[in-house]
Amino acid sequence: MKPLLCLNILLSSVVAISNGVGKLPKMGYNTFNAFGCNYNEENVSAIAQSMTEEGLVEAGYNSIIFDDCFTMKERSNIGELQEDYERFPSGMRNLTDRLKELGISASAYSDAGYKTCGGYPGSYGHEEQDLRTFRKWGFDYLKYDNCYIPFDNITQENVYGRYARMANTIAAEAMETKNAPFWFSLCEWGWQQPWSALTAIIDNASFHYWATNFYGHNDMDILEVGNTGQGDPVGNLTIDEAKSYFTAWALLKSPLLISTNLVNASQEAREILKNHDLIKINQDPNVGESISPFRWGNNQPDYVSNATHPAQFWSGNSSYGVVFMLLNTLDTQQDMFVNLTESWAIRAGRLYDVFDMWTHTRNGTVMRNMTVTLPPHGVAALLLNDAGPEPEPSMLGLPYCGVYYQCTWPNGSYYSN
Ligand SMILES: *[C@@H]1O[C@H](CO)[C@@H](O)[C@H](O)[C@H]1NC(C)=O
Ligand SMILES: *[C@@H]1O[C@H](CO)[C@@H](O)[C@H](O)[C@H]1NC(C)=O
Ligand SMILES: *[C@@H]1O[C@H](CO)[C@@H](O)[C@H](O)[C@H]1NC(C)=O
Ligand SMILES: *[C@@H]1O[C@H](CO)[C@@H](O)[C@H](O)[C@H]1NC(C)=O
Ligand SMILES: *[C@@H]1O[C@H](CO)[C@@H](O)[C@H](O)[C@H]1NC(C)=O
Ligand SMILES: *[C@@H]1O[C@H](CO)[C@@H](O)[C@H](O)[C@H]1NC(C)=O
Ligand SMILES: *[C@@H]1O[C@H](CO)[C@@H](O)[C@H](O)[C@H]1NC(C)=O
Ligand SMILES: *[C@@H]1O[C@H](CO)[C@@H](O)[C@H](O)[C@H]1NC(C)=O
Ligand SMILES: *[C@@H]1O[C@H](CO)[C@@H](O)[C@H](O)[C@H]1NC(C)=O
Ligand SMILES: *[C@@H]1O[C@H](CO)[C@@H](O)[C@H](O)[C@H]1NC(C)=O
Ligand SMILES: *[C@@H]1O[C@H](CO)[C@@H](O)[C@H](O)[C@H]1NC(C)=O
Ligand SMILES: *[C@@H]1O[C@H](CO)[C@@H](O)[C@H](O)[C@H]1NC(C)=O
Repeated sequence: MKPLLCLNILLSSVVAISNGVGKLPKMGYNTFNAFGCNYNEENVSAIAQSMTEEGLVEAGYNSIIFDDCFTMKERSNIGELQEDYERFPSGMRNLTDRLKELGISASAYSDAGYKTCGGYPGSYGHEEQDLRTFRKWGFDYLKYDNCYIPFDNITQENVYGRYARMANTIAAEAMETKNAPFWFSLCEWGWQQPWSALTAIIDNASFHYWATNFYGHNDMDILEVGNTGQGDPVGNLTIDEAKSYFTAWALLKSPLLISTNLVNASQEAREILKNHDLIKINQDPNVGESISPFRWGNNQPDYVSNATHPAQFWSGNSSYGVVFMLLNTLDTQQDMFVNLTESWAIRAGRLYDVFDMWTHTRNGTVMRNMTVTLPPHGVAALLLNDAGPEPEPSMLGLPYCGVYYQCTWPNGSYYSN
């Protein structure tokens, strides 16, 4: 089983920090999908090498999450996690140090129960001990799962309480050691599927986007844009779907955690992962909010959940302009029409220059509205920047009013034609 929705939090309210750790969504590589439990030092080194050579580290993917199964199955006689020298012969610290030399940080994984999902020791009752071990081994991030949990009559705590045990331990450890606190990633359950799973997650996110800002990111799950082991260039997605996937994850400020065997990923899939215009917005140092939907489309009412046809019209702000994400959830080509002022971040009565973040081209200037033609399951990721006031209304033969029936004269009369 695999976690679906995760919340990445940094305990900024508990520990005073000013170094910015955890402010932006995490970017990196997660071992789970490519390897499951079956990985070793060579595999991690090979991934790190290939991330470096592919330019992914440079693009911002600067961490590797050891997602489960990296210790011995038994604790030592004093209850400590033990290194598995058979699979990691150089020792964890040596490996994480070598990753650091490549500019890659290492992320640990554990569990709020007796065991991890893979059946390795869980941290319940060992929170402090395990955190010290992870620190000693050179980790700086902790993905925390929810398998093998004790009976409720033992913990008297729900999932929140069990996670709080580790959250408090992280805060205390950071205070005591004067290190930056561990990033903490909390996960719920679910299964990763093809396109239909992506739309379900996007539908879900359309009701949770507001929870996203600096130091708190809805983790929309591992990116599987590349090969997932079947020798198929983009797994089970078309290139248009893979672009939609990456766009949604980046603009909704999800952590960008790749979990795919890079060795087999196609050039096209790798290029998708390296889209610097989208990564720039995911990692925006000034604007932490996610984009949000302004219209569902497809003749559907707004704010109603539809797992196969989620909201199609999204917008938000960034340091680089007003962001639009238009998503064609239909199986046929669609003309996507938007009145610009449907986005809260657009100013009325202004012209906007359009920049396409997939073709990396300037696509002219729009006034009042725009129409983009999208292939089935395709996406447009656009940046709009102010290009001055609209020409005088007389030049247009249109009233100076985006939605003509809303504007009134000072005497209160509506415009009418
Ligand atoms: C992991 O490394 C081993 C060598 O230690 C190799 O045989 C195996 O193919 C690697 N696994 C993957 C998925 O690359
Ligand atoms: C890791 O171990 C190898 C072999 O013992 C050694 O050559 C290398 O310097 C070590 N690297 C680090 C970063 O400790
Ligand atoms: C807790 O509940 C389990 C299962 O219902 C029961 O077997 C066990 O004895 C209880 N433990 C305690 C400490 O009450
Ligand atoms: C979103 O997903 C969570 C976790 O799976 C679920 O509890 C919730 O009902 C979903 N919400 C929507 C609106 O789909
Ligand atoms: C990579 O692709 C080749 C052939 O395309 C296939 O034989 C191999 O199993 C794939 N390896 C992985 C790890 O997916
Ligand atoms: C793609 O997903 C569909 C629908 O779930 C499934 O039937 C098909 O086997 C999948 N193909 C691959 C290559 O995973
Ligand atoms: C979801 O939207 C599609 C397309 O508009 C529609 O056909 C379908 O009936 C909707 N499903 C639900 C559950 O509302
Ligand atoms: C968008 O964010 C930028 C950068 O923080 C800010 O300067 C600008 O005022 C914001 N625009 C809106 C409409 O909030
Ligand atoms: C922007 O222009 C490029 C180059 O002409 C084109 O390929 C792309 O489809 C355009 N984008 C949109 C959203 O229309
Ligand atoms: C879109 O805006 C143009 C002016 O740029 C205007 O002529 C046209 O009527 C508008 N279309 C709609 C459907 O509002
Ligand atoms: C766009 O604006 C036009 C003109 O005000 C209006 O008739 C139309 O209903 C609007 N469309 C949407 C989708 O907001
Ligand atoms: C309100 O002012 C407008 C513009 O000057 C004018 O055309 C309209 O007749 C006025 N309405 C009334 C009820 O006076």
